[in-house]
Amino acid sequence: MSRASDRKRPLVSAAPADPSRRQLLTAGLVAGAGAALTGLAVRPAVAAGDPAITEIQDWNRYLGDGVDARPYGTPSPFESKVVRRNVAWLTADPVSSVNFTPLHELDGIITPNGLCFERHHAGIAEVDPAMHRLMISGLVDKPLVFTMADLKRFPRENRVYFLECAANSGMEWRGAQLNGCQFTHGMVHCVVYTGVRLRLLLEEAGVKANGKWLLAEGADSSAMTRSIPMEKALDDCMVAFAMNGEALRPEQGYPLRLVVPGWEGNMWVKWLRRLEVGDMAWHHREETSKYTDLLANGKARRFTWVMDVKSVITSPSPQAPVTHGRGPLVISGLAWSGNGTISRVDVTTDGGRNWKTARLDGPSLPKALHRFYLDIDWDGSELLLQSRAIDADGFVQPTKDELRAARGENSIYHNNGIQTWYVKADGVVENVEVS
Ligand code: MTE
Ligand code: CO
Repeated sequence: MSRASDRKRPLVSAAPADPSRRQLLTAGLVAGAGAALTGLAVRPAVAAGDPAITEIQDWNRYLGDGVDARPYGTPSPFESKVVRRNVAWLTADPVSSVNFTPLHELDGIITPNGLCFERHHAGIAEVDPAMHRLMISGLVDKPLVFTMADLKRFPRENRVYFLECAANSGMEWRGAQLNGCQFTHGMVHCVVYTGVRLRLLLEEAGVKANGKWLLAEGADSSAMTRSIPMEKALDDCMVAFAMNGEALRPEQGYPLRLVVPGWEGNMWVKWLRRLEVGDMAWHHREETSKYTDLLANGKARRFTWVMDVKSVITSPSPQAPVTHGRGPLVISGLAWSGNGTISRVDVTTDGGRNWKTARLDGPSLPKALHRFYLDIDWDGSELLLQSRAIDADGFVQPTKDELRAARGENSIYHNNGIQTWYVKADGVVENVEVS
């Protein structure tokens, strides 16, 4: 992807840029939310003559499709808006581009296979698994070539991991720009991978003492060669052939992808066909200049592999406004860290003056998405919603100002700054920044 900062800014619905208005917002904001609710006082709307009660509906009157009608199930047509979306102006061509996971429509921690964001440098390779091979070459005792059938005879394991593109939130470095968490944070997905620990395959080939790096290569026409240090390869990397219980989707690297838990997405080579063991990184090659973080002083951070602690409120958010008015409101979001698990998420409704500890719900797995909730009683006044994640290593998600002070605004990669959503009295939500 070319640099977001080179692009014209606000082609997609722009966030409010008037700083005076934002200051006013922060200054004038009274705590818009009451205490977290223990017992929910949801008063369902009962309307006399509600046709949903009084009228017999078609689905109640007629027989439905039989079990032979839908051999591979798809979501209800009423969910047709829950799709991956791209941002047309971001890249010149959809073949080397990205689309985004609809985070605002999802719950729990698992991303459905058909909704995992896609990032391709040369389109989707449609690989015939019978013709697919994985070669391990270079500084090994025994160069090996595996078929898919060979790989499925190694002991396998199941692990839940998030994958985040290093460029996720990259368009937000210089200010609030895209109106929706799908676009600001949707270059992340989290699935259960089934596969073989990479260590097992490397042990089979016998890595020589001077084998310190792996060059991973994909079978697509971009090849996407990436260097991976041997310690990581021998630690928790996997070669995966299944996601969420079924074969990988072509978009995600069918029939085989590298899984590099907690590290930036570009190293998770899809359509994985070769692993070359070397004694040094392939960093002198073309890839060196990519995936570095340019700082304000012209220096660049390199080898920033671990994805930092991060979180975002997925609802309410610009694409998921509050439509039910005041009263009980579920604030929901996601948190993750490439270091391991999330130990706490704080949520503020007043732009950071007061913080409450959110409720983490569901499994807390290392290097996986975590789901959090804060159940509030909304009094209908304006909110400035933010979430701040803290991981088990004690890393705290920074504000965007803190991040810019440390890194400048030249980078595209590794923006893990705290996101602000401005919830208006009518429930409409906008992407803003407060300072
Ligand atoms: N692997 C190959 N072979 N080709 C690619 O274009 N893109 C990389 C990585 N692996 C890529 C690849 C990038 S930049 C990212 S962020 C992830 O795949 C995206 O994985 P996904 O498409 O499953 O979301
Ligand atoms: Co990427």
